Amino acid sequence: MRIGPHVLPNPLAVAPMAGVTDRPFRQLCKRLGAGYAVSEMVAANPRLWATDKSRRRTDHAGEVAPIAVQIAGADPALVADAARYNVDRGAEIIDINLGCPAKKVCNAAAGSALLSNEPLVQSIVQAVVRAVAVPVTLKLRTGPHPEARNAVRIARMAEAEGIAALALHGRTRACAFVGPVEYETIARVKQAVGIPIFANGDIRTAADARRVLALTGADGLMIGRAAQGRPWIFREIAHHLATGGALPPPTVAEARALILEHLRDHYDFYGEELGVRIARKHLGWYTAGLPGDRALRDLVNQATTADVQLAAMEAFFAAQAAVGERLAYRDTMRDDIRDATTSGAPHIDRPAARPWAGEALAA
Ligand SMILES: Cc1cc2nc3c(=O)[nH]c(=O)nc-3n(C[C@H](O)[C@H](O)[C@H](O)COP(=O)(O)O)c2cc1C
Repeated sequence: MRIGPHVLPNPLAVAPMAGVTDRPFRQLCKRLGAGYAVSEMVAANPRLWATDKSRRRTDHAGEVAPIAVQIAGADPALVADAARYNVDRGAEIIDINLGCPAKKVCNAAAGSALLSNEPLVQSIVQAVVRAVAVPVTLKLRTGPHPEARNAVRIARMAEAEGIAALALHGRTRACAFVGPVEYETIARVKQAVGIPIFANGDIRTAADARRVLALTGADGLMIGRAAQGRPWIFREIAHHLATGGALPPPTVAEARALILEHLRDHYDFYGEELGVRIARKHLGWYTAGLPGDRALRDLVNQATTADVQLAAMEAFFAAQAAVGERLAYRDTMRDDIRDATTSGAPHIDRPAARPWAGEALAA
């Protein structure tokens, strides 16, 4: 799959998830088989660029190419300025988030109205495509609500305006994360345009991946929540698509090495105090469904230093090694993913507070 001049090593992308797909997690996913990753959204509003959060979101040091940055905003000139600003800081692809209603980010009431305001979407697309010399992509849903699905129209307009690829979450904004994903709408969009499409929504296993590719004819797949705590899902899917076979879960020794390395990278990136707080949700996801997960979660949630979290994880892995050579999940689908899917919750929320929940609901 290509995005402009960039040939991806494979068509499997980790979805942008605010509060989750920071640079350390994107790196980890790419190491474990994701061919593409998009940053958490960056505000178009320049007043927010000086915040620590925005600075971290524009820090791509050591990131594996192509570096793709997602911008959220509703004012064409501001989104275009933000695109230029990010290209100057290393972005090789600019992705526009068409679903961002988080007022604190967009500083505009457009938000959820954006998808239903097609002329405004066109102005944003035109402004950004003109502003930068790198490929511009869109991330969208199938429409504002089920009575007004307009993804096909937006995709055609986007292609005509020079958009290089689309990622389509197969639900309307009104549907949030509830109900079945409309893979048939994704198929219609794929048939309507010639630019590459990532199909997105509820891909949780390698078998789902194969099924969604067949149903949609999409060029690539974008995976969000199922990568939380299981970044190795990308190599599992790549292996299944290439061979039809199934990779076993990681060995305890491999998971230990990967997770401890992720933690160290994560503490370096955020600093210890914030890093320890943000690590809690990752550690909750990593361990959910494994023996001793609840006790571990209590420990890492109460920890206030990196050393205590690292020691808790070391002890946890020692206990896993006593159970077997490989991670032994209670269930093939984690309880928390099933709960999130059946209750309509946007993501797994047990491990930690949800500072990103407003943004998640948005996208
Ligand atoms: C915690 C969280 C944060 C998200 N943040 C963003 C975001 O910043 N930009 C965006 O376009 N989509 C965002 N999304 C939506 C995902 O990219 C994706 O479209 C959605 O989760 C559906 O894919 P999945 O079923 O594989 O999780 C977010 C989703 C979650 C769960």
